[in-house]
Amino acid sequence: MNFGGTLRINKFACFTLGFILFLIIYWKAGSSSAPMEKSDLINLKSLLKAAIQASEFGGQKVMDGKNHALNIKSKGKTKEGANDPVTDADYASHCAMYYGLKNTFPKLNVISEEHSKSDPSCESQPPIDVDKVVDGNIIVDYMNDELVYVKDVTVWIDPLDATQEYTEGLYQYVTTMVCVAIRGVPIIGVIHYPFLPKTYWGWYTKKPSANIPGVPYKSENKEHPRVVVSRSHPGKVQQIAKEAFGPNTEVLTAAGAGYKVMGVVNGTYDLYLHATNIKKWDLCAGDAIIKTVHGKMTTTKGESIDYSLDSDVKVTGGVLVTRYDHDYYLNKLPPTITGLH
Ligand SMILES: *[C@@H]1O[C@H](CO)[C@@H](O)[C@H](O)[C@H]1NC(C)=O
Repeated sequence: MNFGGTLRINKFACFTLGFILFLIIYWKAGSSSAPMEKSDLINLKSLLKAAIQASEFGGQKVMDGKNHALNIKSKGKTKEGANDPVTDADYASHCAMYYGLKNTFPKLNVISEEHSKSDPSCESQPPIDVDKVVDGNIIVDYMNDELVYVKDVTVWIDPLDATQEYTEGLYQYVTTMVCVAIRGVPIIGVIHYPFLPKTYWGWYTKKPSANIPGVPYKSENKEHPRVVVSRSHPGKVQQIAKEAFGPNTEVLTAAGAGYKVMGVVNGTYDLYLHATNIKKWDLCAGDAIIKTVHGKMTTTKGESIDYSLDSDVKVTGGVLVTRYDHDYYLNKLPPTITGLH
């Protein structure tokens, strides 16, 4: 008898059987616990086209609202005592933008500055046609499709930035904004000016919209930087800017975070300095656009901003935006500019 031979065969048979069983269990478990569906993925190119249209639909509501009696309410005062108004146009634009996107991509997480009032017509927006050639932005149609998991995407919308100025008739500052963040990083930003009308966008690592100009680098700008600060809550920021960047610093005021970031993007200002608390729907789209043109937005401590779904909507500690020389300006700032640390 040859026990050794029998034992060898049995061992081999057992191992093979065990391995096949393992494969079957592994395959079964894999397919039942994580089924991949088409709706779990989202095409960023379609989302960009939807975002452009959503910002423009919202912009149309903002335009329409101006001709009706403005129903101005206050959401209270900001920490610095500035009024925080909201109008019917904010709500109408929210309905068009939020439900336009939601009804096109039901699984998409969208965070808006506003919420709907008890008006059923708000939710019944038609889905956005993502196959439409978006006016003046034919460049989008030549870009590649890019699929990501919809669970990784957070969209931040501001249905009406610079509401205070809107109520004052200072329409040039008014924008609507849509931003696409992936795992907290802003990737696509759209800023629409309803009263021009003009739409600017940027897709980080790809390209900005064709209407965004190139801005040549000038190192001498550091000698006399043009700094834009908030018109409604300037705080001590004007004085901080002069002390930090030198006596030849030119401080200009403007409204709307979207407007101010776009001014840095197009080279009107060298930097945008914000010294009070600010919300992420005010920043996200501009953050994506400034990154697309190789500029930078950080807190005044140099940290990048996290736009994840479960993150705090508020950014504390101030914000710095530049197209060039970010670290140079950052290092000139005093360690605390908001007194909150
Ligand atoms: C640049 O941006 C600023 C601020 O948004 C705007 O006032 C100005 O008209 C823009 N300039 C150009 C050339 O687009």
